[in-house]
Amino acid sequence: MALVNTKEMFKKAYEGGYSIGAFNISDLEQLQGVLEACKERNSAVIIQASKSAISYAGIDTLVEMVKAASEEIGVDCALHLDHGPNFEMAKKCIDAGFTSVMIDGSHLDYEENVAITKQVVEYAHTKNVTVEAELGVLAGTEDDVTSDVHKYTEPDQAVDFVNRTGVDSLAIAIGTSHGAFKFKGEAKLRFDILEEIQTKLPNYPIVLHGASAVDQDAVATCNQFGGDIAGAKGVPVEMLRKASEMAVCKINMDTDLRLAMTAAIRKFMAENPKEFDPRKYLGAGRDAIKNVVLGKIDTVLGSKDSL
Ligand code: G3H
Ligand code: 13P
Ligand code: ZN
Repeated sequence: MALVNTKEMFKKAYEGGYSIGAFNISDLEQLQGVLEACKERNSAVIIQASKSAISYAGIDTLVEMVKAASEEIGVDCALHLDHGPNFEMAKKCIDAGFTSVMIDGSHLDYEENVAITKQVVEYAHTKNVTVEAELGVLAGTEDDVTSDVHKYTEPDQAVDFVNRTGVDSLAIAIGTSHGAFKFKGEAKLRFDILEEIQTKLPNYPIVLHGASAVDQDAVATCNQFGGDIAGAKGVPVEMLRKASEMAVCKINMDTDLRLAMTAAIRKFMAENPKEFDPRKYLGAGRDAIKNVVLGKIDTVLGSKDSL
């Protein structure tokens, strides 16, 4: 088993009309839960870590942990930097053994986004590492930057951006957003924009961030056992499935795993007040993550038997 980049995965996903799940992790239980589900479904997968996850776990610990778990569980996976903030961070991850990086220049002005993406692509490609960039702005908070409104990706600009940077995949803004509170009213995604990008960039892999469905049962379990999460709303599963059948080859999900793990741990603690072995409650969290990922492969991604 080895860490692989995303090139082959995306080619097969595009041709097969499915997506690869990209799941954020920052600890052992999340990692094992994701990989165990992918092993059971024989599914390709991207394990991703943000800058804050890397500073939580330690970069070398993270890389070695992902390599070892991939080997032990028996699933090839990509290890990807999520929302890389600058060239230095991308380089640090590439040098440490990540097989894929995102350089997120979406909040910069267009020419600056082109320049920084190009710089990362030039370095990454010498190391056989694939690169994702982002064009357009998702509403909500991404890292330390907050935007109240979506700035949808412009299809003609996407073509220019891909041609000038040579980036391997592109995250676009079509109405999703990060976190558990995505829509105030009815959920709406701009499939017309995705369709236009697909027409103008044939066979090019598109990435969807902010794609958690926010399972209402997980929210209810959190709240039943002492949580306080009100008004949470995610992307409807059928919309994600439709995007997977189109040019979207990578779907990012973090919130759904966080909610499932928190719900399971809250429930376990409430029902087992005498227990204080962390393996028991973290194990319940790990099982919950595994179940979420099994469900994603079956209902959202369509990536069963893609390994
Ligand atoms: O898009 C952001 C991911 O959900 C990672 O979040 O920065 O809290 O690790 P984080
Ligand atoms: P969610 O918050 O919808 O899970 O999105 C995660 C994400 O896009 C990570 O990059
Ligand atoms: Zn994201």
